[in-house]
Amino acid sequence: MADRVARAVSDGPRRRIGFGTGLALIAALIAVFASGVFASAPSAKTLRARAAATQSTQSTQSSQSSQSSQQSTPQLTPQQIDGKVSSLLSKMTVTEKFGQLEMAAPDGPNGTPGDLISEAQNGQIGSVLDLTGVNAINQVQQAALQSRLHIPLIFGLDVIHGYKTMFPVPLGEAASWDPSLVQNDESVSASEATADGIKWTFNPMVDISRDARWGRVVEGAGEDPFLGSAIAAAKVKGYQGNDFAAPNKMASTIKHFGAYGAPVAGREYNTVDMSTQQLFNDYLPPYKAAVDAGAATVMSSFNSLNGVPNTANPYLLTKILRHEWGFKGTTISDYQAVQELEAFGFAANGADAARLALTAGEDIEMAVQVGPTSEFSTYSNNGPQLLASGKITMKQLNTAVRHVLTLKYLAGMFTNPMTDPSRVQNSELTPDNLAAATKSADGSMVLLEDHNNALPLSKNASSVAVVGPLADDALDQLGPDVPIGYDTNPSDFSSVDKIVTVRQGITNYLPSSATVNYAQGCDTACTDTSGFGAAVDAANNSAVTVVVVGEPSSDSGEASSRTQLGLPGQQLALVKQIAATGKPYVVVLMNGRPLTIDWLAANAPALLEAWYPGTEGGTAVADTLFGSNDPGGKLPMSFPVNVGQVPISYNELPTGRPFDPNNKFTSRYLDAPNAPLYPFGYGLSYTTFSLSNLHLSSSRVSANGPLTVTADIANTGQVAGDDVVQLYLHESDTTLLQPVRKLEGFKRVSLQPGQSETVKFTLNRQNFGFYDNNGKFVVEPGPFDVWVGDSSDGGMHATFNLH
Ligand code: BGC
Repeated sequence: MADRVARAVSDGPRRRIGFGTGLALIAALIAVFASGVFASAPSAKTLRARAAATQSTQSTQSSQSSQSSQQSTPQLTPQQIDGKVSSLLSKMTVTEKFGQLEMAAPDGPNGTPGDLISEAQNGQIGSVLDLTGVNAINQVQQAALQSRLHIPLIFGLDVIHGYKTMFPVPLGEAASWDPSLVQNDESVSASEATADGIKWTFNPMVDISRDARWGRVVEGAGEDPFLGSAIAAAKVKGYQGNDFAAPNKMASTIKHFGAYGAPVAGREYNTVDMSTQQLFNDYLPPYKAAVDAGAATVMSSFNSLNGVPNTANPYLLTKILRHEWGFKGTTISDYQAVQELEAFGFAANGADAARLALTAGEDIEMAVQVGPTSEFSTYSNNGPQLLASGKITMKQLNTAVRHVLTLKYLAGMFTNPMTDPSRVQNSELTPDNLAAATKSADGSMVLLEDHNNALPLSKNASSVAVVGPLADDALDQLGPDVPIGYDTNPSDFSSVDKIVTVRQGITNYLPSSATVNYAQGCDTACTDTSGFGAAVDAANNSAVTVVVVGEPSSDSGEASSRTQLGLPGQQLALVKQIAATGKPYVVVLMNGRPLTIDWLAANAPALLEAWYPGTEGGTAVADTLFGSNDPGGKLPMSFPVNVGQVPISYNELPTGRPFDPNNKFTSRYLDAPNAPLYPFGYGLSYTTFSLSNLHLSSSRVSANGPLTVTADIANTGQVAGDDVVQLYLHESDTTLLQPVRKLEGFKRVSLQPGQSETVKFTLNRQNFGFYDNNGKFVVEPGPFDVWVGDSSDGGMHATFNLH
């Protein structure tokens, strides 16, 4: 079994291929391109003829597809789509139906299609993952259009925070507390990815997590369901727009359904066990918000929830998702997860796994490898027999296939199956896209410390030392979720070339008369300290030093749980050596999760959290270090003092023995505070803000509200800046304990010095209520506390009663 798992993980074209490998691939890829993969595809005329054939079979509308023209056709009504799908279903064989439920990946050398061509032609697959490059995608699509019923494929990929123009990692995007900014990131991602033929992203990941040991916190929006819901909905809208058949829009996927972010002990893929009220109140809201925003697809998670693997969990996939939330889209398993039901000991064999998943509501099996010899395509290998023996019904099969075909209609695959190969030339890494990446990275910066105004640095500095393992590491700066194909395609080296590191950003920012002294000090593992001397020399020879430390990107993301959350290796020793020079210095962090950084918090003159800031990260860091950008981001996840505090979040339930420093027998640690190092919602600014005039429209409110809460915020400092006004609630005397506080409103404001703004929140039933242990939403009368501040800690306080 271990063997098989290893193969499952290593066989597929997993994650990005290293830079070195990428170089080695150039020759092969040039050869493929030179041989004219696309040129060998049929002419536009042939394509039009084929598309016409497809359309006449399905009696679709008159619009024709071609390889060079790709318009968005008028949206079909749900009834029209239903009719077309029914007609197609009536023509499909059982084998073709199961084929539609299989998703496969390329298996040719260097990510080339390989068997995908024949699988598409034979109707063995309905969708593809991890194939990139418009020519390869068109080639495989062409093969699908030659299948008996000419049903097009849809091509999916993990487009997580950018395709070629990389934005900050999702945790960084969430730190902006600016859903419209995040929506724009995904809109740009969609325009770039669709130009390459990718019409489906496996994002957003909306898993709430309070456990920084879990590496995938980098992919989500942090610990809070309210912020997480706002970001989730914004991402769906960014990818899909109003109509994801549009050439520059794509279907999105909410993942990983559900509660994937709460694995026991923070260990990847591990068990999740939680109460119904916690599931509904804390973990499900972002999925629900994304469903309400129109997310096209939902991916089930690898984990089990309360004893049932989510790949075959009817409670989640059918009861909650379809029956309670009314989700009409398509569900998909995670990577080879149906077959993993055997490893769980939940399914006796592949046939059993297929039956359990399909009947639970799992439409597509992400088999990756399909065919009679693949153990991963449990649906197509066992489905016909399961049907014949009555273990699954034709109705169940048709329902799943209907979802897949509907997705393809909605994505415009039937009318525009081919992607215009010229579009890619002008769609990626455009000046506008790069400007959007800078803006997004600017917005994600969180200032954790700034003693004696160490930041911003003087723009007149004659010399700046830039040191540390992440100061000039282009690829690590992108984080762990760079899409497959990013650095392996020769044309993509332009993407890598566009990455602005901190070293480059500072060099670009300063006048040419200034000297930038760069010394790496050590690599991210930082086991070899032989470069420390050069870093110390650089510091000694410069007016100020910028030290950029953090995690290698491979330390976060999937399969990257850690039990130590400090800086890796000797990185802290490097910072201490710079500090020992006695010269001014500041620290920039690049990381994908909250770290334990108590020494830095106490000692670094300034500490800037830059996350993995993406292609324009160095520009944004320089903007921020020199004061052209005010760091207005706030933490979307608490930073613990030490690993022992984890999991930790601000919105915990009350205890009967709340913390009392003078009483040992209260809820506390002997050796650490209860409070995190930095709480959720925290972040400093270069200016100062004052909040005043908290006003409630009433002190008595009915269950439906509305209650209006207003507060004034003023920029009382010397420079323009951003703050995030946050509203928190707590209700007492309820039948179920309510969090000590929970976020129910926020707004990021930008204010000039002396400027003020009245921020207004309107609260209603949705904000007052909670889910009980039957998963039912209830609103109970009781006294409420309300706080308005700019962190989850403190703030102005008022009370009201709900009757
Ligand atoms: C991850 C998913 C991802 C899928 C396809 C899985 O290992 O858990 O998030 O979408 O691979 O790349």
